[in-house]
Amino acid sequence: MLTPKMEAELNEQVNKEMYSAYLYMAMSAHCEGLGLKGFTNWFMIQYHEEMYHAMKMYEYIHSQGGTVTLKAINEPPTDFESPLDMFKKTLAHEQFVTQSINNLMDTAIAEKDHATQIFLQWYVTEQVEEEENDNDIITQLEMVKDHPHALLMLDRELSGRQANVPLDFSKGVGGDDEGGD
Ligand code: FEO
Repeated sequence: MLTPKMEAELNEQVNKEMYSAYLYMAMSAHCEGLGLKGFTNWFMIQYHEEMYHAMKMYEYIHSQGGTVTLKAINEPPTDFESPLDMFKKTLAHEQFVTQSINNLMDTAIAEKDHATQIFLQWYVTEQVEEEENDNDIITQLEMVKDHPHALLMLDRELSGRQANVPLDFSKGVGGDDEGGD
């Protein structure tokens, strides 16, 4: 069972995860326009990861007898200066999401909601991985600087990223803790 405060904040988080998906889809579209197939792929995989994060929380709210209330998703930016700019914005966004998950955990503790604390631990771990991935790619992009050949090599590397979350939610995502990086 969720308290009204916990339920409201989990619903807000569903919206933030959906916005995250939208943001990375916008970045994927921008990379497509640049002809960077690997970056396009990386951001589209990230879109799928975020949709999984949203659906996992959506199902949790239902599993606790709560009500899912969907809100409008904000419009993401469409203009980016460079791949480095996109990854810096990605890291900043993930740091915002990490703070949001920490706030949710604080609420779960204050409300003495042990089940939600356990549920949120998965997201705490996930945020560590997400920030680490972004920092790694930022480091590589800072080394690439203005060298097109190096950028194409990194693009080729990123084309190998594969989804390790379910892409079909028609049967739900409940109990599947494989959701990855
Ligand atoms: Fe769902 Fe990238 O945090």
